[in-house]
Amino acid sequence: MSRPSATLRTAVVREVLQGALERRVKTSGRDTLEILDTGGGTGNFAVPVARLGHRVTVVDPSPNALFGLERRAAEAGLAGQVRGVQGDASGLFDVVERGGYDAVLCHGVLEYVDDPAEGLRNVVDALRPEGGTLSLLAAGLGGAVLGRALAGHFTEARTALGSDDGRWGESDPMPRRFTAEQLRALVGATGLEIAALHGVRVFSDLVPGALVDTEPDAQEALARLEAAAAESPAFQAVASQLHVLAETAGTPQKDH
Ligand SMILES: C[S@@+](CC[C@H](N)C(=O)[O-])C[C@H]1O[C@@H](n2cnc3c(N)ncnc32)[C@H](O)[C@@H]1O
Repeated sequence: MSRPSATLRTAVVREVLQGALERRVKTSGRDTLEILDTGGGTGNFAVPVARLGHRVTVVDPSPNALFGLERRAAEAGLAGQVRGVQGDASGLFDVVERGGYDAVLCHGVLEYVDDPAEGLRNVVDALRPEGGTLSLLAAGLGGAVLGRALAGHFTEARTALGSDDGRWGESDPMPRRFTAEQLRALVGATGLEIAALHGVRVFSDLVPGALVDTEPDAQEALARLEAAAAESPAFQAVASQLHVLAETAGTPQKDH
């Protein structure tokens, strides 16, 4: 069954990230930020961030992903602002500068690294000591449990619910999932201050794509529903992904 588009599913993350980068421009006094996208793949986030006027370095172990990134950046006319480097989270400082970035993205990567605490610590150590922003996106346990149950795979749903790693079985392609509490603890251990936590893809992974494609205005209404539910702990508990925005200590938070 097809699902709503990737752009719609990650709209909440893009919006939160864009707001955080605008605040970082103000606090740093630099219009062009240096951004590191760890495990950035083919540039789902790196290319839109470069389009905002920033310079993005993508570190990824996959040569194929980096090839796709290069092509995508070139097609968007952003080849000069997006740099791909082969490497991984555990050997991050073999390939990029420690303390050299205004913001770091770690989206869909902690699920795959051998040691999430070590991987996240490295990612955070890439931030400038005088101020930086972390954008962390990871698979949520509750969304997987709900998804398996609604697909009629009740035993798998129960396995995921009771497991330490959030997997629903041997054939689960996802190596690890997280609860909001686990992500808060991982980020807290790095010394960063959590500015916001959002549930992502609460409904859009469950809704058949056809419903969104055929109903007039349904895309926009679904995006608004996702945005409204994202900040509610009740919906975060069943989100497919969780997004944490965190800042180095002492960074001014949102203007109110
Ligand atoms: C699910 S994709 C996410 C891609 C992109 N960040 C996004 O959100 O669209 C996971 C990416 O992490 C990369 N990856 C896997 N293991 C990694 C590691 N140990 N360190 C850094 N990146 C890793 C993969 O090559 C892949 O590009």
